[in-house]
Amino acid sequence: MKAKPKTVAGLPADKALALGERMYREGILPSGEPMQSVVSGDVPVAGTAFTCVSCHVRSGLGTFEGGVVTLPTNGTKLGRTRYRKYPNLSPEERKSLRVQTPAARPPYTDASLAHVLRTGLDPGGRELNPVMPRYDLKDPDMAILVHYLWSLSAQLSPGVDTTTLRVATVITDEVSAEDQEAMLVPMNNFVARHNAHASVFGTRMYMSIGGQEMRGAYRKLALSVWRLKGPSDTWASQLGAHLAKEPVFALLGGISYGDWKPIHTFCESRRLPCLFPITDFPVISDTDWYTQYFSKGYFQEGQAAARYLRGLEDPAPASRVLQIIQDGPEGRDLSAGFRETWQELGAGAVKEIRLGQGETVSLASLRTMLQQEKPTAVLLWTAAGTFDALDGLADEVDRPGVVIMSSRQLGTKLYALPEKARAFTWITYPYRDPKDEPAVSRYANSLLAGLSRHKPETRISTRTYALLQLFQAGLIEMDRNVYRDNLLDRLGMQRDHILPDFLRLSFGPGQRYASKGCYLMQLSPGPEPKLVRKSEWVVH
Ligand code: HEC
Repeated sequence: MKAKPKTVAGLPADKALALGERMYREGILPSGEPMQSVVSGDVPVAGTAFTCVSCHVRSGLGTFEGGVVTLPTNGTKLGRTRYRKYPNLSPEERKSLRVQTPAARPPYTDASLAHVLRTGLDPGGRELNPVMPRYDLKDPDMAILVHYLWSLSAQLSPGVDTTTLRVATVITDEVSAEDQEAMLVPMNNFVARHNAHASVFGTRMYMSIGGQEMRGAYRKLALSVWRLKGPSDTWASQLGAHLAKEPVFALLGGISYGDWKPIHTFCESRRLPCLFPITDFPVISDTDWYTQYFSKGYFQEGQAAARYLRGLEDPAPASRVLQIIQDGPEGRDLSAGFRETWQELGAGAVKEIRLGQGETVSLASLRTMLQQEKPTAVLLWTAAGTFDALDGLADEVDRPGVVIMSSRQLGTKLYALPEKARAFTWITYPYRDPKDEPAVSRYANSLLAGLSRHKPETRISTRTYALLQLFQAGLIEMDRNVYRDNLLDRLGMQRDHILPDFLRLSFGPGQRYASKGCYLMQLSPGPEPKLVRKSEWVVH
């Protein structure tokens, strides 16, 4: 690794680093102007349209897409000789190869790095593929960018050494012992299985060069459980104390019944990945990087309701919409998801009635609300306490044509929806069709050995299984390049996965909500009602 300078282009090194990061990620020069680049020989393009990060990704480790290899541009790789074959071997391992392959280029220096960025000629004399733009930067700007590249993914992240990768999972103190177990048992089983794998490395399979390269990427896992106590505004300092005592590479899963925001914010500020926490209340953001969620939770159900209602061929039900919102975070996120999407779709204002704390809905109070607002559709974001009122409403001639409720807010009471109300009540359901679930969830059971009581309806162990599968895929694809941003980059390049609970989990660079779907369902008539699909998985 290169020695760190104290100043770069007359600026303190850390200031230069921040400016270099902005050049790399946003294509903005230290002056604030957009960077200029030249693509395919002559056409100048604003660097903001083709930022380094859009091709080389956040960690700098590059990609392989559409037949084009975008080479790594991080400190470690730039400072080493590049080889086409077995690029991840260390120099010592390479020496022991029986057949030596020629180098693709020697290590870069400050000067040759500036040269390749300006001209496309690497220090081996090769001209780079014209896909890689040329950047004619002034000397001080070039020095700042080059300084950033040297620092980019140059050292293994905290929580990793040559033998062990340490992760933690966060549990808040209101979570029941049963729910904790539903997450911890599969996690511990996974870690044990992963760590037992080390014993096969002495076998023939790993004697080949490829096997050796793979073995060099393998690390045992160590899992810590971080328990947060007391009010959520003290969590950040508790997390800080845990992290100081026991640096970890990433947070895996985690579980809380409340808002995930304090943990999300902590991870963002410490640049600490947090993979797929078990939460119903994720932070909804287009720009945050470090926390990867399964879905937008209740918010996403509200969104699906809005899209479905708005997309109906018959516009009548959507003409006057009323949200009745039970006090609490579920109602808050369901109604926000509906409201924001409804406005985005240009469908106008939504009337809203917020129930007070502990206020329930009787047939009489529901009637009053409906007489005032005369809605054609009601979003009834309440728990099952309103079922009696809904039953009474069924016989009224001027009732709204459609009522929408959330399957998750109703929980296991969902199936007690009164028979008479089933025909006009639609249900948002963010999981795969129940009849398809058992076949897919079967694999998840392989991690449940030792669990005292299995309650599949909480979906905690199935989601834990899914996150472990995805984490494992990320580990494999990081190879030896064990940097936090690389883990998130590799997750962003995953193909669609078939895992329990969600019909599809899909990924893309910077995308942070893997499930984009939700069904609208209805309950069938009769004593044993079943969910019947009214919509496709993704409601457009
Ligand atoms: C449109 C996609 C794209 C953009 C934008 C881009 N690159 Fe590249 N870059 C590539 C590709 C593809 C290669 C590999 C070319 C080859 O192997 O011939 C590459 C190669 C490189 C190399 C040579 C690596 C080596 O080992 O020799 C460096 C250094 C580099 N890029 C840095 C940058 C920087 C810094 C930026 C932003 C200022 C940037 N790139 C923007 C696609 C891109």
